[in-house]
Amino acid sequence: MSPSHCVLVTGGAGYIGSHTVLQLLLTGYKTVVIDNFDNSCQIAVNRVQELAGDRAVNLIFHQIDIRDKAELKKLFASTKFDAVIHFAGLKAVGESVQKPLMYYDNNVVGTLTLLEVMEAHGCKKIVFSSSATVYGWPKVLPCTEDFPLSAASPYGRTKLMVEDIFRDIYASDSGWKMIMLRYFNPVGAHPSGYIGEDPLGSPNNLMPFIQQVAVGKLPALKVFGTDYSTKDGTGVRDYIHVSDLANGHLAALRKLSDPEIGCEAYNLGTGKGTSVLEMVAAFEKVSGKKIPLVISGRRPGDAEVVYASTAKAERDLNWKAENGIEEMCRDQWNWASKNPYGYQSK
Ligand code: NAD
Ligand code: UFG
Repeated sequence: MSPSHCVLVTGGAGYIGSHTVLQLLLTGYKTVVIDNFDNSCQIAVNRVQELAGDRAVNLIFHQIDIRDKAELKKLFASTKFDAVIHFAGLKAVGESVQKPLMYYDNNVVGTLTLLEVMEAHGCKKIVFSSSATVYGWPKVLPCTEDFPLSAASPYGRTKLMVEDIFRDIYASDSGWKMIMLRYFNPVGAHPSGYIGEDPLGSPNNLMPFIQQVAVGKLPALKVFGTDYSTKDGTGVRDYIHVSDLANGHLAALRKLSDPEIGCEAYNLGTGKGTSVLEMVAAFEKVSGKKIPLVISGRRPGDAEVVYASTAKAERDLNWKAENGIEEMCRDQWNWASKNPYGYQSK
Protein backbone atom coordinates (compact mmCIF):
# COMPACT_ATOMS: atom_id res chain seq x y z
CA MET A 1 0.00 0.00 0.00
CA SER A 2 1.43 3.34 -0.91
CA PRO A 3 0.22 6.94 -1.13
CA SER A 4 -2.06 7.47 -4.16
CA HIS A 5 -4.04 4.44 -3.03
CA CYS A 6 -7.59 5.05 -1.86
CA VAL A 7 -8.48 4.14 1.70
CA LEU A 8 -11.93 3.98 3.30
CA VAL A 9 -11.90 5.05 6.95
CA THR A 10 -14.98 4.16 9.03
CA GLY A 11 -15.43 6.24 12.18
CA GLY A 12 -12.93 8.73 10.77
CA ALA A 13 -14.54 11.74 12.49
CA GLY A 14 -13.79 10.26 15.92
CA TYR A 15 -10.80 10.71 18.21
CA ILE A 16 -8.31 8.20 16.80
CA GLY A 17 -9.88 8.28 13.33
CA SER A 18 -9.46 12.05 12.87
CA HIS A 19 -5.76 11.91 13.77
CA THR A 20 -5.23 8.96 11.44
CA VAL A 21 -7.11 10.60 8.56
CA LEU A 22 -4.88 13.66 8.89
CA GLN A 23 -1.76 11.48 8.68
CA LEU A 24 -3.16 9.63 5.66
CA LEU A 25 -3.83 12.90 3.84
CA LEU A 26 -0.44 14.37 4.69
CA THR A 27 1.19 11.17 3.40
CA GLY A 28 -0.70 11.46 0.13
CA TYR A 29 -3.48 8.85 0.42
CA LYS A 30 -6.88 9.49 -1.10
CA THR A 31 -9.16 9.13 1.89
CA VAL A 32 -12.90 8.54 2.07
CA VAL A 33 -14.35 8.90 5.57
CA ILE A 34 -17.70 7.58 6.72
CA ASP A 35 -19.17 8.30 10.14
CA ASN A 36 -22.68 8.55 11.59
CA PHE A 37 -21.60 11.25 14.11
CA ASP A 38 -22.82 9.11 16.97
CA ASN A 39 -19.82 10.26 19.04
CA SER A 40 -18.30 13.00 16.87
CA CYS A 41 -19.24 15.98 14.74
CA GLN A 42 -18.72 17.69 11.38
CA ILE A 43 -16.38 20.27 12.95
CA ALA A 44 -13.77 17.56 13.57
CA VAL A 45 -13.79 16.71 9.86
CA ASN A 46 -13.56 20.41 8.93
CA ARG A 47 -10.56 20.88 11.21
CA VAL A 48 -8.77 17.89 9.71
CA GLN A 49 -9.35 19.48 6.32
CA GLU A 50 -7.86 22.76 7.52
CA LEU A 51 -4.80 21.04 8.99
CA ALA A 52 -4.31 19.06 5.77
CA GLY A 53 -4.00 22.27 3.71
CA ASP A 54 -3.61 21.51 -0.01
CA ARG A 55 -3.97 17.80 0.67
CA ALA A 56 -7.56 18.31 1.84
CA VAL A 57 -8.67 17.84 -1.79
CA ASN A 58 -8.03 14.14 -1.23
CA LEU A 59 -10.63 13.89 1.55
CA ILE A 60 -14.24 12.93 0.88
CA PHE A 61 -16.76 12.62 3.72
CA HIS A 62 -20.11 10.81 3.79
CA GLN A 63 -22.45 10.63 6.76
CA ILE A 64 -23.16 6.90 6.66
CA ASP A 65 -23.87 4.31 9.34
CA ILE A 66 -21.84 1.13 8.80
CA ARG A 67 -24.99 -0.91 9.45
CA ASP A 68 -26.66 0.68 6.42
CA LYS A 69 -25.84 -1.98 3.84
CA ALA A 70 -27.58 -0.22 0.94
CA GLU A 71 -25.49 2.95 1.45
CA LEU A 72 -22.28 0.93 1.83
CA LYS A 73 -23.02 -0.94 -1.40
CA LYS A 74 -23.57 2.35 -3.23
CA LEU A 75 -20.28 3.68 -1.88
CA PHE A 76 -18.29 0.58 -2.87
CA ALA A 77 -19.95 0.57 -6.30
CA SER A 78 -18.85 4.15 -6.92
CA THR A 79 -15.29 3.98 -5.53
CA LYS A 80 -12.57 1.35 -5.69
CA PHE A 81 -10.98 1.07 -2.25
CA ASP A 82 -7.54 -0.47 -1.87
CA ALA A 83 -8.07 -0.98 1.85
CA VAL A 84 -10.34 -0.14 4.79
CA ILE A 85 -9.36 1.16 8.22
CA HIS A 86 -12.25 0.30 10.50
CA PHE A 87 -12.62 2.49 13.62
CA ALA A 88 -16.42 2.86 13.73
CA GLY A 89 -17.95 1.49 16.87
CA LEU A 90 -19.04 2.22 20.41
CA LYS A 91 -16.40 2.14 23.14
CA ALA A 92 -17.78 2.83 26.62
CA VAL A 93 -17.28 -0.25 28.79
CA GLY A 94 -19.89 0.75 31.42
CA GLU A 95 -22.51 1.61 28.80
CA SER A 96 -21.93 -1.77 27.14
CA VAL A 97 -22.97 -3.48 30.38
CA GLN A 98 -26.20 -1.44 30.44
CA LYS A 99 -26.93 -1.72 26.70
CA PRO A 100 -25.35 -4.92 25.38
CA LEU A 101 -27.71 -5.18 22.40
CA MET A 102 -26.69 -1.74 21.19
CA TYR A 103 -23.02 -2.74 21.42
CA TYR A 104 -23.42 -6.08 19.64
CA ASP A 105 -25.49 -4.40 16.94
CA ASN A 106 -23.08 -1.54 16.36
CA ASN A 107 -19.75 -3.29 16.79
CA VAL A 108 -20.49 -6.83 15.59
CA VAL A 109 -23.40 -6.47 13.15
CA GLY A 110 -21.85 -3.25 11.82
CA THR A 111 -18.53 -4.98 11.17
CA LEU A 112 -20.24 -7.99 9.54
CA THR A 113 -22.14 -5.66 7.22
CA LEU A 114 -18.92 -3.90 6.28
CA LEU A 115 -17.08 -7.19 5.67
CA GLU A 116 -19.91 -8.53 3.50
CA VAL A 117 -19.88 -5.46 1.29
CA MET A 118 -16.08 -5.49 1.11
CA GLU A 119 -16.08 -9.13 0.02
CA ALA A 120 -18.79 -8.54 -2.58
CA HIS A 121 -16.62 -5.80 -4.12
CA GLY A 122 -13.34 -7.72 -3.93
CA CYS A 123 -11.81 -5.39 -1.31
CA LYS A 124 -10.06 -7.78 1.07
CA LYS A 125 -7.63 -5.62 3.00
CA ILE A 126 -8.61 -4.29 6.42
CA VAL A 127 -7.06 -2.77 9.53
CA PHE A 128 -9.30 -3.10 12.59
CA SER A 129 -9.36 -1.21 15.92
CA SER A 130 -9.10 -3.93 18.52
CA SER A 131 -8.16 -3.28 22.13
CA ALA A 132 -5.92 -4.45 24.93
CA THR A 133 -9.21 -5.35 26.60
CA VAL A 134 -8.97 -8.72 24.77
CA TYR A 135 -6.22 -9.68 27.28
CA GLY A 136 -8.77 -9.50 30.15
CA TRP A 137 -6.86 -9.32 33.45
CA PRO A 138 -3.36 -10.30 32.36
CA LYS A 139 -1.60 -12.70 34.74
CA VAL A 140 1.90 -11.96 33.44
CA LEU A 141 3.38 -8.90 31.79
CA PRO A 142 4.08 -7.46 29.33
CA CYS A 143 1.09 -8.56 27.21
CA THR A 144 2.24 -10.37 24.09
CA GLU A 145 -0.03 -11.04 21.13
CA ASP A 146 -0.06 -14.79 21.77
CA PHE A 147 -1.63 -14.42 25.25
CA PRO A 148 -4.91 -16.27 25.86
CA LEU A 149 -7.80 -13.96 25.04
CA SER A 150 -10.79 -13.18 27.23
CA ALA A 151 -13.28 -10.40 27.76
CA ALA A 152 -14.56 -8.74 30.90
CA SER A 153 -17.48 -6.76 29.40
CA PRO A 154 -19.90 -6.83 26.47
CA TYR A 155 -17.66 -4.18 24.84
CA GLY A 156 -14.64 -6.45 25.23
CA ARG A 157 -16.63 -9.37 23.86
CA THR A 158 -17.51 -7.38 20.73
CA LYS A 159 -13.78 -6.86 20.09
CA LEU A 160 -13.05 -10.52 20.73
CA MET A 161 -15.94 -11.62 18.50
CA VAL A 162 -14.76 -9.43 15.64
CA GLU A 163 -11.22 -10.77 16.03
CA ASP A 164 -12.63 -14.33 15.90
CA ILE A 165 -14.71 -13.45 12.83
CA PHE A 166 -11.55 -12.15 11.14
CA ARG A 167 -9.66 -15.36 11.94
CA ASP A 168 -12.54 -17.48 10.58
CA ILE A 169 -12.81 -15.44 7.38
CA TYR A 170 -9.08 -15.70 6.78
CA ALA A 171 -9.14 -19.48 7.43
CA SER A 172 -11.83 -19.78 4.75
CA ASP A 173 -10.14 -17.49 2.21
CA SER A 174 -6.45 -16.65 2.39
CA GLY A 175 -6.99 -13.88 -0.16
CA TRP A 176 -7.87 -11.60 2.77
CA LYS A 177 -5.24 -9.47 4.49
CA MET A 178 -6.40 -8.49 7.96
CA ILE A 179 -4.57 -6.60 10.68
CA MET A 180 -6.03 -6.25 14.16
CA LEU A 181 -4.41 -3.45 16.13
CA ARG A 182 -4.75 -3.87 19.88
CA TYR A 183 -4.56 -0.36 21.29
CA PHE A 184 -3.49 0.20 24.85
CA ASN A 185 -4.53 3.59 26.32
CA PRO A 186 -4.67 6.36 23.68
CA VAL A 187 -4.28 9.89 25.06
CA GLY A 188 -3.04 13.31 23.93
CA ALA A 189 -3.96 15.29 20.85
CA HIS A 190 -2.47 16.68 17.66
CA PRO A 191 0.32 19.13 18.64
CA SER A 192 -1.60 21.98 16.93
CA GLY A 193 -4.30 21.69 19.61
CA TYR A 194 -6.81 21.88 16.76
CA ILE A 195 -8.12 18.31 16.94
CA GLY A 196 -8.43 16.07 20.00
CA GLU A 197 -10.79 13.87 21.99
CA ASP A 198 -14.24 15.33 22.51
CA PRO A 199 -16.44 12.62 24.00
CA LEU A 200 -20.13 13.47 23.91
CA GLY A 201 -21.66 13.04 27.36
CA SER A 202 -19.62 12.31 30.46
CA PRO A 203 -16.10 10.94 30.01
CA ASN A 204 -15.14 7.36 30.89
CA ASN A 205 -11.37 7.43 30.88
CA LEU A 206 -8.67 8.94 33.04
CA MET A 207 -7.32 11.61 30.71
CA PRO A 208 -10.64 13.21 29.73
CA PHE A 209 -11.48 13.33 33.46
CA ILE A 210 -8.17 15.02 34.32
CA GLN A 211 -8.80 17.45 31.45
CA GLN A 212 -12.28 18.35 32.72
CA VAL A 213 -10.91 18.99 36.21
CA ALA A 214 -8.14 21.17 34.76
CA VAL A 215 -10.59 23.37 32.83
CA GLY A 216 -12.86 23.69 35.87
CA LYS A 217 -15.74 21.55 34.59
CA LEU A 218 -15.32 19.00 37.40
CA PRO A 219 -14.18 19.76 40.96
CA ALA A 220 -11.83 16.79 41.49
CA LEU A 221 -10.52 13.56 40.01
CA LYS A 222 -11.70 10.36 41.68
CA VAL A 223 -8.77 7.95 42.02
CA PHE A 224 -10.20 4.46 41.65
CA GLY A 225 -8.20 2.43 44.13
CA THR A 226 -5.00 3.13 46.02
CA ASP A 227 -4.50 -0.41 47.35
CA TYR A 228 -3.21 -2.16 44.22
CA SER A 229 0.17 -3.84 44.49
CA THR A 230 1.77 -1.21 42.25
CA LYS A 231 4.48 1.40 42.90
CA ASP A 232 2.07 3.85 44.54
CA GLY A 233 -1.04 1.68 44.94
CA THR A 234 -2.90 3.11 41.91
CA GLY A 235 -3.70 1.34 38.64
CA VAL A 236 -0.97 1.14 35.99
CA ARG A 237 -1.60 1.45 32.24
CA ASP A 238 0.32 1.81 28.99
CA TYR A 239 -0.62 5.29 27.70
CA ILE A 240 0.16 5.99 24.05
CA HIS A 241 0.12 9.33 22.22
CA VAL A 242 -2.67 9.42 19.65
CA SER A 243 -0.19 10.67 16.99
CA ASP A 244 1.95 7.57 17.53
CA LEU A 245 -1.19 5.47 17.31
CA ALA A 246 -2.16 7.19 14.04
CA ASN A 247 1.28 6.42 12.63
CA GLY A 248 0.81 2.79 13.67
CA HIS A 249 -2.14 2.66 11.24
CA LEU A 250 0.00 3.89 8.37
CA ALA A 251 2.57 1.22 9.24
CA ALA A 252 -0.21 -1.39 9.23
CA LEU A 253 -1.47 -0.17 5.84
CA ARG A 254 2.03 -0.57 4.38
CA LYS A 255 2.17 -4.06 5.87
CA LEU A 256 -1.00 -5.02 3.97
CA SER A 257 1.11 -5.03 0.79
CA ASP A 258 3.41 -7.70 2.21
CA PRO A 259 2.60 -10.93 0.33
CA GLU A 260 3.32 -12.83 3.57
CA ILE A 261 0.71 -11.03 5.68
CA GLY A 262 -2.46 -12.97 6.48
CA CYS A 263 -4.51 -12.27 9.58
CA GLU A 264 -2.34 -10.80 12.35
CA ALA A 265 -2.73 -8.97 15.65
CA TYR A 266 -0.32 -6.27 16.80
CA ASN A 267 -0.12 -4.39 20.09
CA LEU A 268 0.13 -0.63 19.81
CA GLY A 269 1.51 0.70 23.08
CA THR A 270 4.77 2.07 24.43
CA GLY A 271 5.70 -0.92 26.59
CA LYS A 272 5.85 1.34 29.67
CA GLY A 273 3.46 1.33 32.61
CA THR A 274 2.38 4.60 34.27
CA SER A 275 0.28 4.89 37.45
CA VAL A 276 -2.71 7.19 37.91
CA LEU A 277 -0.73 9.39 40.32
CA GLU A 278 2.23 9.60 37.91
CA MET A 279 -0.14 10.67 35.15
CA VAL A 280 -1.69 13.34 37.37
CA ALA A 281 1.78 14.62 38.36
CA ALA A 282 2.90 14.81 34.72
CA PHE A 283 -0.27 16.70 33.79
CA GLU A 284 0.11 19.14 36.68
CA LYS A 285 3.70 19.81 35.66
CA VAL A 286 2.97 20.72 32.04
CA SER A 287 -0.29 22.58 32.72
CA GLY A 288 0.63 24.37 35.94
CA LYS A 289 -2.86 23.36 37.16
CA LYS A 290 -3.52 21.62 40.45
CA ILE A 291 -5.71 18.54 40.03
CA PRO A 292 -7.58 17.97 43.32
CA LEU A 293 -7.96 14.26 44.09
CA VAL A 294 -10.67 12.29 45.86
CA ILE A 295 -9.59 8.80 46.84
CA SER A 296 -12.33 6.30 45.96
CA GLY A 297 -12.61 2.55 46.00
CA ARG A 298 -11.53 0.34 43.13
CA ARG A 299 -13.67 0.58 39.99
CA PRO A 300 -15.37 -2.80 39.46
CA GLY A 301 -13.81 -4.78 36.63
CA ASP A 302 -10.54 -2.81 36.55
CA ALA A 303 -7.27 -4.64 36.01
CA GLU A 304 -4.35 -3.80 38.25
CA VAL A 305 -1.50 -3.42 35.75
CA VAL A 306 -1.64 -3.60 31.94
CA TYR A 307 1.15 -2.82 29.53
CA ALA A 308 2.20 -4.02 26.11
CA SER A 309 5.03 -5.92 24.61
CA THR A 310 5.80 -3.84 21.53
CA ALA A 311 8.35 -6.25 20.08
CA LYS A 312 6.09 -7.71 17.37
CA ALA A 313 4.96 -4.31 16.03
CA GLU A 314 8.53 -3.01 16.10
CA ARG A 315 9.79 -6.03 14.20
CA ASP A 316 7.01 -6.56 11.64
CA LEU A 317 5.56 -3.08 11.20
CA ASN A 318 8.81 -1.21 11.70
CA TRP A 319 6.89 1.07 14.03
CA LYS A 320 7.65 2.36 17.51
CA ALA A 321 5.93 4.97 19.69
CA GLU A 322 8.07 8.10 20.00
CA ASN A 323 6.26 10.25 22.55
CA GLY A 324 6.46 9.93 26.32
CA ILE A 325 4.04 10.88 29.09
CA GLU A 326 5.19 14.48 29.12
CA GLU A 327 4.40 15.01 25.42
CA MET A 328 1.07 13.23 25.87
CA CYS A 329 0.09 15.55 28.75
CA ARG A 330 1.47 18.64 27.00
CA ASP A 331 -0.61 18.02 23.89
CA GLN A 332 -3.69 17.04 25.89
CA TRP A 333 -3.45 20.32 27.80
CA ASN A 334 -2.82 22.32 24.64
CA TRP A 335 -6.03 20.89 23.13
CA ALA A 336 -7.98 21.29 26.38
CA SER A 337 -6.92 24.88 27.02
CA LYS A 338 -7.65 25.94 23.43
CA ASN A 339 -10.95 24.02 23.32
CA PRO A 340 -12.37 23.88 26.87
CA TYR A 341 -15.77 22.97 25.41
CA GLY A 342 -14.40 20.54 22.85
CA TYR A 343 -15.49 21.27 19.28
CA GLN A 344 -18.57 23.20 20.42
CA SER A 345 -18.36 26.80 21.53
CA LYS A 346 -19.76 27.52 24.97
P1 NAD B 1 -14.64 7.60 18.95
O1 NAD B 1 -15.98 7.36 19.56
O2 NAD B 1 -14.06 8.96 19.09
O3 NAD B 1 -14.69 7.24 17.40
C1 NAD B 1 -15.55 6.25 16.86
C2 NAD B 1 -16.28 6.89 15.70
O4 NAD B 1 -17.15 5.93 15.12
C3 NAD B 1 -17.15 8.08 16.13
O5 NAD B 1 -16.88 9.19 15.30
C4 NAD B 1 -18.57 7.59 15.93
O6 NAD B 1 -19.46 8.64 15.59
C5 NAD B 1 -18.39 6.56 14.84
N1 NAD B 1 -19.41 5.51 14.81
C6 NAD B 1 -19.88 4.77 15.85
N2 NAD B 1 -20.78 3.88 15.42
C7 NAD B 1 -20.88 4.05 14.07
C8 NAD B 1 -21.65 3.43 13.06
N3 NAD B 1 -22.52 2.46 13.33
N4 NAD B 1 -21.49 3.87 11.79
C9 NAD B 1 -20.63 4.86 11.48
N5 NAD B 1 -19.90 5.49 12.40
C10 NAD B 1 -20.01 5.08 13.68
O7 NAD B 1 -13.66 6.48 19.52
P2 NAD B 1 -12.09 6.32 19.33
O8 NAD B 1 -11.47 6.48 20.66
O9 NAD B 1 -11.61 7.10 18.18
O10 NAD B 1 -12.05 4.75 18.99
C11 NAD B 1 -11.98 4.26 17.67
C12 NAD B 1 -11.98 2.76 17.73
O11 NAD B 1 -10.89 2.32 18.54
C13 NAD B 1 -13.23 2.14 18.34
O12 NAD B 1 -13.56 0.98 17.62
C14 NAD B 1 -12.79 1.79 19.75
O13 NAD B 1 -13.52 0.71 20.28
C15 NAD B 1 -11.33 1.42 19.52
N6 NAD B 1 -10.51 1.56 20.73
C16 NAD B 1 -10.48 2.77 21.38
C17 NAD B 1 -9.72 2.89 22.55
C18 NAD B 1 -9.71 4.19 23.31
O14 NAD B 1 -9.39 4.17 24.51
N7 NAD B 1 -10.00 5.33 22.70
C19 NAD B 1 -8.99 1.81 23.04
C20 NAD B 1 -9.03 0.60 22.33
C21 NAD B 1 -9.79 0.50 21.17
N1 UFG C 1 -9.05 5.98 36.66
C1 UFG C 1 -9.21 6.73 37.81
N2 UFG C 1 -10.16 7.71 37.79
C2 UFG C 1 -10.95 7.97 36.73
C3 UFG C 1 -10.77 7.20 35.54
C4 UFG C 1 -9.81 6.19 35.56
O1 UFG C 1 -8.52 6.52 38.81
O2 UFG C 1 -11.80 8.87 36.79
C5 UFG C 1 -8.00 4.94 36.64
C6 UFG C 1 -8.52 3.55 36.37
O3 UFG C 1 -8.92 2.93 37.57
C7 UFG C 1 -7.31 2.89 35.71
C8 UFG C 1 -6.66 4.04 34.95
O4 UFG C 1 -7.14 5.23 35.56
O5 UFG C 1 -6.42 2.44 36.70
C9 UFG C 1 -7.01 4.06 33.48
O6 UFG C 1 -8.42 4.03 33.34
P1 UFG C 1 -9.13 4.29 31.92
O7 UFG C 1 -10.61 4.20 32.15
O8 UFG C 1 -8.60 5.53 31.33
O9 UFG C 1 -8.60 3.09 31.03
P2 UFG C 1 -8.78 1.52 31.18
O10 UFG C 1 -7.44 0.92 30.98
O11 UFG C 1 -9.49 1.13 32.42
O12 UFG C 1 -9.75 1.21 29.97
C10 UFG C 1 -9.23 1.30 28.66
C11 UFG C 1 -10.30 1.59 27.61
C12 UFG C 1 -11.25 0.45 27.48
C13 UFG C 1 -10.52 -0.83 27.30
C14 UFG C 1 -9.53 -1.00 28.42
C15 UFG C 1 -8.70 -2.24 28.29
O13 UFG C 1 -11.04 2.74 27.99
O14 UFG C 1 -12.02 0.66 26.32
O15 UFG C 1 -8.62 0.11 28.38
O16 UFG C 1 -7.76 -2.12 27.32
F1 UFG C 1 -11.41 -1.85 27.34
